[in-house]
Amino acid sequence: MRRRVRTAVLPVAGLGTRFLPATKVMPKEMLPVVDKPIIQYAIEEARSAGIERFVFVNGRGKSMLEDHFDMAYELNAALRARDKMDLLKVADAATLPPGAISSVRQQEPLGLGHAVWCARDLVGDEPFAVMLPDELTLSEPSCMAGLIGAHEQTGGNVISVMDVPREHTSRYGILDTGDGEGPLFEAKGMVEKPSPDKAPSTLAIIGRYVLLPEVFEHLARKERGAGGEIQLTDGMARMIGQKPFHGLRFEGRRFDCGDKAGWLEANLALALERPDLGDSVRSFLPRYAR
Ligand code: G1P
Repeated sequence: MRRRVRTAVLPVAGLGTRFLPATKVMPKEMLPVVDKPIIQYAIEEARSAGIERFVFVNGRGKSMLEDHFDMAYELNAALRARDKMDLLKVADAATLPPGAISSVRQQEPLGLGHAVWCARDLVGDEPFAVMLPDELTLSEPSCMAGLIGAHEQTGGNVISVMDVPREHTSRYGILDTGDGEGPLFEAKGMVEKPSPDKAPSTLAIIGRYVLLPEVFEHLARKERGAGGEIQLTDGMARMIGQKPFHGLRFEGRRFDCGDKAGWLEANLALALERPDLGDSVRSFLPRYAR
């Protein structure tokens, strides 16, 4: 019988220097998009896809992330005493069941592949998800639900991809595909951050993966790739030809919240859709958008 995807690994050890001074003390994953921390969007996406266990690969000073998903006993008691049941529900939505989160430390910033490898013992010998919380995806069903569906169909690795302008290929892992139209492409290869003239396609890996546990063996070699880092892309590439490997085109909306402009866009897009905020944002926006 196939093993179910139960666990998501979330690499959250980065220092978030792009958002200084906001991230001097606070993890960048706690930056809000409207009023919800970026990381909570990823956790909700995963839970909507049936994922129950979360492994945070974090670093020093990142314990606020676990606190956020813990039960805030005093806050709950205060809200209950004031009969603020709506707010209690909002706080509860950010509380995970006991035992759902565990964490490991990535002691040195050796790359994304190394971060994922740090989670190997907590994941064990079963397929698992990787989610880069900087990437905020919106779709129905969720991006992760689509990947898990494709994994159940193919029995192999499936990663989410999206077309990007060719001049942006050096920002991403890029998938080399056959001739297929998609949405499911058989992977022929993949390369981390190729220059536009060397990119095998314009299909960028967007930070959502369902991987077989064999990837840990490849990552264990700790080979350095692009930028001198241990790259997840390189570890994944080694499974091509050995295990089924597909890219699934993501059809929803995606915001790169690791980038200031992308984060601002996400705030704006989500605020405009909110029944409690949309009208007021729409009314002041023309004053700035000239
Ligand atoms: C990482 C991955 C890359 C992927 C990107 C998506 O790069 O290495 O393959 O395309 O995330 O956001 P990073 O943005 O951490 O440099």
